[in-house]
Amino acid sequence: MDRLKAKVFNFDKSQIFYKKLGGKQALLQRALMQKNIKIDIYPEEGEKSAYLRRWVAKGKNKAIVFRGTMPSSTSLKANEISKNKTETKSLLHSFGLRVPKGIVVSRSEFDNALQWFDSIDRKKVVVKPIYGSGGNGVFSNITEKSCLESIIKEMGEREFIVEEHIEGDDHRILVVGGKFVAAMRRWPANVIGDGFSTIDDLVKKKNAIRAQNPYDSRYPIKVTCDVERRLGNIGLTPDSVIEKGRRVFLQTIANIGVGGEGEDVTDIIHQEFVDEVEKCCEAFPDLECFGVDLIAEDISKPPSVQDYSIIEVNANCDIPIHHWPTLGQPLDVAAVIADHYFPDEEKDISYAVEVVVGGEVQGVGFRKWLSRQAVIHGLTGYCMNGNDGDLLALFEGSKYSVDSLISLCGKGPRKSNVETIEFKEIPSEGRTTFMIF
Ligand SMILES: Nc1ncnc2c1ncn2[C@@H]1O[C@H](COP(=O)(O)OP(=O)(O)O)[C@@H](O)[C@H]1O
Ligand SMILES: [Mg+2]
Repeated sequence: MDRLKAKVFNFDKSQIFYKKLGGKQALLQRALMQKNIKIDIYPEEGEKSAYLRRWVAKGKNKAIVFRGTMPSSTSLKANEISKNKTETKSLLHSFGLRVPKGIVVSRSEFDNALQWFDSIDRKKVVVKPIYGSGGNGVFSNITEKSCLESIIKEMGEREFIVEEHIEGDDHRILVVGGKFVAAMRRWPANVIGDGFSTIDDLVKKKNAIRAQNPYDSRYPIKVTCDVERRLGNIGLTPDSVIEKGRRVFLQTIANIGVGGEGEDVTDIIHQEFVDEVEKCCEAFPDLECFGVDLIAEDISKPPSVQDYSIIEVNANCDIPIHHWPTLGQPLDVAAVIADHYFPDEEKDISYAVEVVVGGEVQGVGFRKWLSRQAVIHGLTGYCMNGNDGDLLALFEGSKYSVDSLISLCGKGPRKSNVETIEFKEIPSEGRTTFMIF
């Protein structure tokens, strides 16, 4: 079996600053910097979201422009198709891949949708936007015609998709350079009863656990009106106490952004599913790194024995989801992606320096700031206040990251006033964390 293997990703839980790395591309930038690839970020005017920023990775022989985690080599066409869930489905279907049957309608055409509902065998459907992400505007598990009608009547002006609801678990599968790399099973937001806590309390406890995970912490579970309605359908409210061991799902969709939980299933995915997702590359030959959303009853068994479908392809894929799964093994997929884009540059984290920063550098949040910057740059080492009012630090990692951090120290955090900076190279010791003393 010829599979690309990601190494286990180790991280020190005491490093709360990892949260900063929960953004889509931060881990990729960090893995590239560890290979001495220079990173330049270009903020664009009027930009709301940092993840839409254009950035450039410059190696010895080539430079790649990225937006999020997507390189600019991605054709406009492939990008457009992958954003449009209907076009994605038709394209995948034409390559023999299995996708849910569905139709595109507008609010005023709800009759067509109801007729279509009558015509299909399985009476369970999903309503979702043609363009969308993070599970926004997705209504799944619709079994009643009346419910379908009322959802459609509340939809906005734009056309949307009504498609078969595929039974099974939701998965996010990462493909890099035409090869399968990692698979996550995603569970919709849920709580498990302990026999005495209310659902609201269980959500609070779950969110406290999510807060420890750099990725999940960005998306706490919210008890919205929708969640309350869903609970009401099974005779519960947020104040209900559920019996010990009973699992109650608060959502029907499994996106991490709406409180879903990821479980790494890379080692159990069946080879025929691997072949199936790799086949998506034939449909999207210029997508170098993408995430496939696949619903399947049991990913460890062959596709031929079960119901399954590919529901979408994400050209701007999530990397942190694999580094920080809620359950199971964390995988360093960023390193695999960095190696794919820059195969000629090796990871080299054997450079180390001792640094002394002088000026107004104590009592100004310097150590906390520095620790965060070190983690973002993929560096290890430590920092501490010196006896003479200065700041002492040790950085270990790639030459590029170390040099970048030294130059950042020249500016320091907002309240500091850096006057001097001295450093000298020392032998590296292979440290694994960045500590504040
Ligand atoms: N046809 C479907 N059958 C079952 N569940 C679905 C279907 N389509 C979407 N879902 C659920 O909704 C989630 C979001 O849908 P998706 O099409 O991936 O949109 P988004 O781009 O918002 O992630 C999926 O991860 C899955 O849990
Ligand atoms: Mg999706």
